[in-house]
Amino acid sequence: MTRRAVIAGSGSALPRTCVTNAELAERVDTSDEWIVERTGIRERRIAAKDEALTDIARPAARAALADAGVEPGDIDLLICATVTPDMMFPTSSALLADELGMPKAAAYDLLAGCTGFVYAVVQAYSMLASGLATRALVVGGDVLSKILDWEDRSTIVLFGDGAGAVVMEPVDRGGFLGFELGADGGGGEHLWLPGSGSRHFDDPDQFVKMNGREVFKFATRVLVYSAEQVLAECGKTVDDVDVYIPHQANKRIIDYAAGKLGIPAERTVVNVDRYGNTSSGSIPLALMDARAEGRLRDGALLLMTGMGAGLTWGSALIEWTDVSSNGRNG
Ligand code: UT7
Repeated sequence: MTRRAVIAGSGSALPRTCVTNAELAERVDTSDEWIVERTGIRERRIAAKDEALTDIARPAARAALADAGVEPGDIDLLICATVTPDMMFPTSSALLADELGMPKAAAYDLLAGCTGFVYAVVQAYSMLASGLATRALVVGGDVLSKILDWEDRSTIVLFGDGAGAVVMEPVDRGGFLGFELGADGGGGEHLWLPGSGSRHFDDPDQFVKMNGREVFKFATRVLVYSAEQVLAECGKTVDDVDVYIPHQANKRIIDYAAGKLGIPAERTVVNVDRYGNTSSGSIPLALMDARAEGRLRDGALLLMTGMGAGLTWGSALIEWTDVSSNGRNG
């Protein structure tokens, strides 16, 4: 019988260094005014020179395990969603499983651009629901600052570094209700990393390239489409949504999507002003903020929608379930 799965604990971590718009304006031809007006971003966290993905993901994962009250050794699946692993292999998930003390865990990295975290929770859900795993750790995080051209004003103003993690386990009721995932490689050229992988391994250009206007159009379209799809599939409407977590790419994109869906500002989580676009870290970081603000009470309906490189998109609908009051089923 297919089982249900729930988020039993969550955690996040950010690099210490905060970089303001004014500091970026000292480096490239931009201004605080332009960045705030076009993106809503005011500051972002940037990793230190010697800080790689797992250095940020590790404390986020530890916090999620502690929050769930789960021992590392009880995790038998670890998925790390990222486009900035420490290196291609060994995978960051395998490194994390080793460092955190998870000898039983199957571990792999998942690459789906900024939608990576949503894709990863779908994978974990499938393994838990089918009985192939009993307790999963899903990490979403990126250190995009490492792959940005720091002379390119069109990208450095947008992105920041950060990571979040969730522990997922089977549950009797509530938890994840449904998902919607999609990809359009035809639009992939609008957000790409030339000198990466086997196609362009000899290309010395190691930095992110982006056609901002095209990604903007794509984002506003799929955030609305994907949310409507998952709500319809689950027999819910936007009026049922208590907490909306869209990918934190740009405040204008968030406002457009929320407005078009008809979700009021007080139900929409926004932290892009403080962290910028943290790619795979964006949704779990926003989840932590929503929890800290006391917005995720037992039974609340949570809609999360991501979009990003690939191009990819995905939504998850969750009935927030406090596992401590509902008993474990692992
Ligand atoms: O996870 C997905 C990641 N990517 C995204 O989410 C990106 C989505 N796209 C966007 O957020 C927006 O397209 C941007 C914020 C990147 C740009 O905003 P826009 O309103 O689409 O501006 P634009 O690209 O149409 O550029 C307007 C002007 C241009 O000058 P001209 O050609 O009109 O003279 C740009 O050169 O703004 C200029 N510009 C800047 N000016 C000051 C571009 N970047 C900057 C900058 N500071 N940082």
